Amino acid sequence: MKIGIPKEIKNNESRVGMTPAGVLELTKLGHDVYIQSIAGDSSGFDDEDYHVAGAKVLPTIDRVYEIADMIVKVKEPIEQEYDLIREDQIIFTYFHFASNQRLTEAMLRSKSICIAYETVENESGALPLLTPMSEVAGRMAIQQGAKYLEKPVKGKGLLLGGVPGVPPGKVLVLGAGTVGIQAAKMAAGLGAQVTVLDVNMDRLRYVNDIMPSHVVTEFSNEYNIRKHIKTSDLIIGGVLITGAKAPKLITRAMLKEMQSGTVIVDVAVDQGGCIETTRPTTHEEPAYIIDEIVHYCVANMPGAVPHTSTIALTNVTLPYVLKLAENGWKKACDEDKSLEKGLNIISGKIVYDPILEAFDWKEAFA
Ligand SMILES: NC(=O)c1ccc[n+]([C@@H]2O[C@H](COP(=O)([O-])OP(=O)(O)OC[C@H]3O[C@@H](n4cnc5c(N)ncnc54)[C@H](O)[C@@H]3O)[C@@H](O)[C@H]2O)c1
Repeated sequence: MKIGIPKEIKNNESRVGMTPAGVLELTKLGHDVYIQSIAGDSSGFDDEDYHVAGAKVLPTIDRVYEIADMIVKVKEPIEQEYDLIREDQIIFTYFHFASNQRLTEAMLRSKSICIAYETVENESGALPLLTPMSEVAGRMAIQQGAKYLEKPVKGKGLLLGGVPGVPPGKVLVLGAGTVGIQAAKMAAGLGAQVTVLDVNMDRLRYVNDIMPSHVVTEFSNEYNIRKHIKTSDLIIGGVLITGAKAPKLITRAMLKEMQSGTVIVDVAVDQGGCIETTRPTTHEEPAYIIDEIVHYCVANMPGAVPHTSTIALTNVTLPYVLKLAENGWKKACDEDKSLEKGLNIISGKIVYDPILEAFDWKEAFA
């Protein structure tokens, strides 16, 4: 199969759809990989790295879309790419169709085969192609939170790990899912006192089993949240109710109960955030202050560490890319039910019901 990897052109996106290691696995099997020149530069992989792995480097995005049977990328295609996508071409990427009607209509018109990373789902209901980005964001949340606790950026002026003779900071983690566990682990590693709240007792049992004793768990309810925010230095929002907006666990009025210079990193911002005062920010201006509380609410945190994120993403997408390349999309999806869940649009027809529900469309555009 001919596989194309275009350079990401969405604003602020520095990741790339595949590492040279992934390219090598495909070319070893006899597939042709075409990558747009400098597509991997921001992730730390240059054209020569891809050439050595067996890819052919093409000068323009048009050439990549023109030649490829399957496009592997990171973000959803943006307007400039819509007309480059051809009938029957497989597009394997994050789409998030339900939040983008223009994109959905463009992909329906293109008659391509759209397989969305975010809906690939294994038997236990886990989303294997979303997990690595939550892992990156969870770990980064502590790195960024620790930074924003510094005085020049209006934090409390506190070193999260403390020093001998000075106690460490207190971290409150809302949600014990992928983001929450990775955040708790990083905070614990820095020596902070960590409290993790969740409504799922199994998650709390798991955290309690695997974490050191300075990470404590408590049930998530308003009483406990109000108790902890009064003394927390850093609060991480990592709550998710699948398919729904995040619940607002901290209201604007509750900010007044917090100490000045407390930092909130609301990772759940992409689902609306679990703090009432959350609004999405970018890496250019990641933080803002309300009632003397620092809010860091970057909606694409992994974008700041494209080297790590690109490798983490290729680690999980490559097994599916190999199946699609070896078998074509029909056989690959027949044989792998997780991958089949990723099918969103097939040749002008929506095959993933939540998209129809999101736009209140009755028919599937057959
Ligand atoms: N900002 C970014 O760059 C970025 C990157 C990756 C993920 N995310 C987002 O981070 C959020 C968390 O992702 P995840 O992969 O950790 O999800 P997850 O499903 O693994 O974990 C969510 C946890 O929240 C818990 N929860 C639900 N209601 C709760 C409540 N009232 N109180 C406390 N806990 C509650 C759930 O029981 C679950 O354990 C998602 O919204 C995801 O989209 C953001």
